[in-house]
Amino acid sequence: MSLKTIFSGLLLAGTLVLAHPGKEEVFAHSALPLERKSLNHCNKEFSEPEFVKRTVEVHGREYARLRRELGLENESPKLDPRDYISVSKIDHKSSKTVSKTMDLASLFSDAGACMLMPAVDQGPLYVLGEQVRKNITENEPGIKMTLAIQVVDYKTCKTVPNAWVDIWSSNSTGIYTGVQGYPGMGDPKDAGMLKGTALRGVQPTDDHGVASFDSLLPGHYDGRASHIHAIVYLGATKQPNNTITGGKASHIGQLYFDQSLIASIDTVAPYSSNKNKVLKNTADFLFMQGANGDDPIVRYALVGKTLSEGVFAWIRFGINQNANKAVNPAAFMTDKGGVMNPKGPVALLPKTGYP
Ligand SMILES: *[C@@H]1O[C@H](CO)[C@@H](O)[C@H](O)[C@H]1NC(C)=O
Ligand SMILES: *[C@@H]1O[C@H](CO)[C@@H](O)[C@H](O)[C@H]1NC(C)=O
Ligand SMILES: *[C@@H]1O[C@H](CO)[C@@H](O)[C@H](O)[C@H]1NC(C)=O
Repeated sequence: MSLKTIFSGLLLAGTLVLAHPGKEEVFAHSALPLERKSLNHCNKEFSEPEFVKRTVEVHGREYARLRRELGLENESPKLDPRDYISVSKIDHKSSKTVSKTMDLASLFSDAGACMLMPAVDQGPLYVLGEQVRKNITENEPGIKMTLAIQVVDYKTCKTVPNAWVDIWSSNSTGIYTGVQGYPGMGDPKDAGMLKGTALRGVQPTDDHGVASFDSLLPGHYDGRASHIHAIVYLGATKQPNNTITGGKASHIGQLYFDQSLIASIDTVAPYSSNKNKVLKNTADFLFMQGANGDDPIVRYALVGKTLSEGVFAWIRFGINQNANKAVNPAAFMTDKGGVMNPKGPVALLPKTGYP
């Protein structure tokens, strides 16, 4: 199948709903069966190294068209146009001295120009209604990470205070809590999975546009490069129960890590016990999408002398404050606990097909 057909298939699905390319693919929770069929053919191609090469070398124009038709073209100021291969070769390790008490805004002095990460689908494992809290670690073991995200307006490059950044990621062995029934993510029959809130949470941006979290470096799972999801909400309201409601999702993105950092993480327990296959950044379609023209890899610095003492990681999101993206959570966290969204991407799996 040609790439042209692949991209046409993706476009047919309305939005780019490719979730987890590779073995874990769930392409299109909103796609019609016919479209899904055409996309399912691509599974193998997406993970082939040849596909990666061709995407850039031969089908750059197709990619540009994809961006255009998804409405992403005008969102990117393209101040520093790069392709994802060159982005993947940048060493994002910083020699900055970092500490718990530092001014987080100072991290961003070398974070690059105003950059807009192409918005992607929020993925199949988003839970809406998580707590506003800085420390989302709970009892999960792993390498501590303080993650600072600076939100800027992509047109003016001015920082955006009072935005709400909602993040979620897998634990050190590649499992997401909070959703029941996603293949490879715990026992599908275990409703207890819905109680999980670890590694999920919401923080407001401060006067410098910075939201920060105490979390862990994520572990990888089949079919995806290691990543963290983020949604930036504008105009949301904080509720007495410490959640946010309303507002519009101005940005949906995923952030990534240097391949060399991932290799080092995998030598530290409990990451070293993770049996899932590593998918390299450059073999992950969503990374390619994020890194063509932008840099979705976090900069980072070690807190101590060794990785196991923890890291600081930071990244700047350029957002379009007028955008209002569709969000379709897999589950909701409510006053009655976690409940599946019957119209969400995981509940619809029996209909749309298991990966
Ligand atoms: C976050 O909370 C966990 C316990 O839930 C604790 O072990 C950890 O030290 C906290 N992280 C930071 C950076 O304070
Ligand atoms: C990751 O989460 C799963 C599901 O909650 C759990 O079974 C597993 O032990 C966790 N990984 C680690 C290293 O604790
Ligand atoms: C928090 O409050 C909102 C608004 O009243 C409600 O919809 C939601 O279910 C509550 N969430 C939790 C976890 O209690």
